Amino acid sequence: MTTYTFENTPCIGSGATPVGTYTNIDHVWLAAEPFMRTRMNDVHLPMTVTYAEFILDTEPEADEEVTRVAALLHDVGWSRVDESRILSEGFRSDNFLTSDIRVEHEKHGCDIAREILPGCGYDDEFITKVTDIIDGHDTRAESYSIEDSIMRDSDRMWRFNPTGLGFSAEWFAKTPRAIAEALENKIIKEMITERGKAMARAELDATKKLFRLDLI
Ligand SMILES: [Fe+2]
Ligand SMILES: [Fe+2]
Repeated sequence: MTTYTFENTPCIGSGATPVGTYTNIDHVWLAAEPFMRTRMNDVHLPMTVTYAEFILDTEPEADEEVTRVAALLHDVGWSRVDESRILSEGFRSDNFLTSDIRVEHEKHGCDIAREILPGCGYDDEFITKVTDIIDGHDTRAESYSIEDSIMRDSDRMWRFNPTGLGFSAEWFAKTPRAIAEALENKIIKEMITERGKAMARAELDATKKLFRLDLI
């Protein structure tokens, strides 16, 4: 079995940067910015896009622009749901992953993509590819395409990094240790791509050391 560490796995935690050449999507960042403050999405979305680029480095057949625009926009729909319901229903309820509020943030995310992407120069065909990924990204069990798979892995990835693990502990009202155990026992097994699996392993092992989860 391969051991994945920061020495053999480029990722945010190891201080690497993606090596591929990627289309400039700065105009999409600027168009999405008004929808990014809710639920720390101005932290989660940039990290998600960077993780997507690390995976795209090893998946050359994927459409990098569709994947990255979908990753950038996947959670902007949280800006249109009732903020007081986000934690109680979207994180701390028994069925949080399939809760109504999760479906709502996916639908609102598709709406926002359809509102802002034409002004960014994208046609209907491109926009539909993006919304097909955003729609159901949390509530649908299966992935439809390589771009979808890369977006799903990238979305999960930040939780293995200290930043996302810290926010998860706060939102789910659990200890960092409990979050790390859930990542180890469940989430890491849901990773689809080889690079995603490797990054999740390397980030989680380093985060566990950093947070002294051997002791506390
Ligand atoms: Fe989401
Ligand atoms: Fe997300």
